[in-house]
Amino acid sequence: MQPIFLVGFMCSGKSTLGVELARQMNLRFIDLDDYIEQRQGATIVELFARIGEARFREIETEALREVSRLHDVVISCGGGTPCHGSNMALMNRLGTTVWLTTGTERIVSRLCLPEHRVKRPATAGLTDEQITQMVHDTLSKREPYYSQAQLKFDSTRIETAEETIETAAQLKELLLAVGR
Ligand code: S3P
Repeated sequence: MQPIFLVGFMCSGKSTLGVELARQMNLRFIDLDDYIEQRQGATIVELFARIGEARFREIETEALREVSRLHDVVISCGGGTPCHGSNMALMNRLGTTVWLTTGTERIVSRLCLPEHRVKRPATAGLTDEQITQMVHDTLSKREPYYSQAQLKFDSTRIETAEETIETAAQLKELLLAVGR
């Protein structure tokens, strides 16, 4: 089976849902950020500080090309992965792409939580107001890329373990219904 790529904004549930979807579909799960961190021996925040975003995006594209060759995997991308180079076209060619959507207010409230805020270069050190502004600005720039995904799925309901299991089951049904 070709890879399933989960794309969408930061905190839209790509990793949370990806782990559970992979479990329910008996597939391997790969978080692209974790994959990069392991290979580079540094966190994403450290990489941005050390090599800058432009070089990070090159490394991210290389990592995406590597994992795209795998079969029987669910891959959660970084929020910016589909928006650089021809990454979205690559994913659409080699696998099934799903855009996970979550309301803007929910994304903001999740990103403002300390544990989310500190692990992302786009939010570390920002105030709540600045995060709100960043989400609105960045989301509107990124939607043209996310909307190229083959499937769109509302991933809002992942606040509890039970919700995550149910939402992943719905996503699995959608994927099976379209023959993936
Ligand atoms: C990024 C999102 C992050 C990570 C990096 C850049 C972005 O992944 O790849 O901090 O540009 O949106 P998540 O979407 O998992 O937070």
